[in-house]
Amino acid sequence: MRRLTTLASMLTGAIIAVSAVAQVQAAGGGFVTASLENGQSIFRNGKGDVPACMSCHEEDAMGNDNLGTPRLAGQVVEFIVKQLEDFATDRRAGIGAGVVMPIFAKQLTSEDRRDVAAYVSSLAHDPKISATGSSNLKALREAGVTVGDPAQGLRIVSFGVSERDIPACRSCHDYNGRGVEPIYPMIGQQKYVYLVNQLTNWRDGSRNNDPLEQMQKVARKMTDEDIHNAAAFLTGASPYTLGNYRRPERHVSVRGK
Ligand code: HEC
Ligand code: HEC
Repeated sequence: MRRLTTLASMLTGAIIAVSAVAQVQAAGGGFVTASLENGQSIFRNGKGDVPACMSCHEEDAMGNDNLGTPRLAGQVVEFIVKQLEDFATDRRAGIGAGVVMPIFAKQLTSEDRRDVAAYVSSLAHDPKISATGSSNLKALREAGVTVGDPAQGLRIVSFGVSERDIPACRSCHDYNGRGVEPIYPMIGQQKYVYLVNQLTNWRDGSRNNDPLEQMQKVARKMTDEDIHNAAAFLTGASPYTLGNYRRPERHVSVRGK
């Protein structure tokens, strides 16, 4: 994991600062020191011209399929910091409903971005709460959204598609897409519409902020059907292995509060 950690610190910069409020343990033994109080205030009230994050990402940070917003709660903290930095520096373009994100990210300071990332990442570690990240596929289907087959999706996520050289998603994103800090985001129990949008954007290159083009290479091999199937499985995929309710890694441990 040493190489990955080095890559992560290159990507996110040295995520170390001094603050009395909270320390967030980062992978590789480093600490993100962040003010959860400031993060919560930005999330709930906004700051300056930036509206409250929860007005689109929902009060519990679980995302919203109608708005195309992702779940942020419990996401790998370094990954969220990286996305906000990428939005702020135009490495990640705003696409579709997301055109707002680069505008908002630029108006926050790097401390603000780190604080709000630490805050949302610290949410929803309770398995009962995190289950609500799943999309309601039946409601989406009734609303006319193309929804894939979760059983086919499970095969892609766990084993890949050998005929088309698609690797198993879990080889990078871990069991059921639960994420591996600091590089690989949690994609299990993410919102369906957001997952489909991202896979489509990686495939056509309109999102291209992935290190070593790892995601673009995978997505280019996927058909529309593969994308719908993988997303349909992932949105409801439990991070726990059967009979074992211990989640091996914890993305953030917040200290000092
Ligand atoms: C007006 C609605 C809106 C508001 C307000 C908003 N967002 Fe977003 N956000 C979006 C949309 C839509 C996307 C999905 C973009 C895409 O599809 O590429 C997104 C994506 C993101 C992502 C990328 C997550 C990932 O998994 O890659 C992050 C991080 C994020 N927002 C953080 C925030 C924060 C922090 C705030 C508050 C400062 C905020 N957002 C406010 C609409 C909004
Ligand atoms: C070789 C490693 C690798 C494999 C295999 C892989 N991914 Fe990824 N994926 C990544 C990386 C790295 C990122 C984060 C990119 C970034 O930093 O913006 C990512 C990001 C994503 C995102 C965006 C998440 C977000 O919150 O914005 C989605 C969706 C995704 N992957 C889905 C998949 C699916 C579905 C599969 C299997 C078909 C898969 N990935 C296989 C490396 C991989």
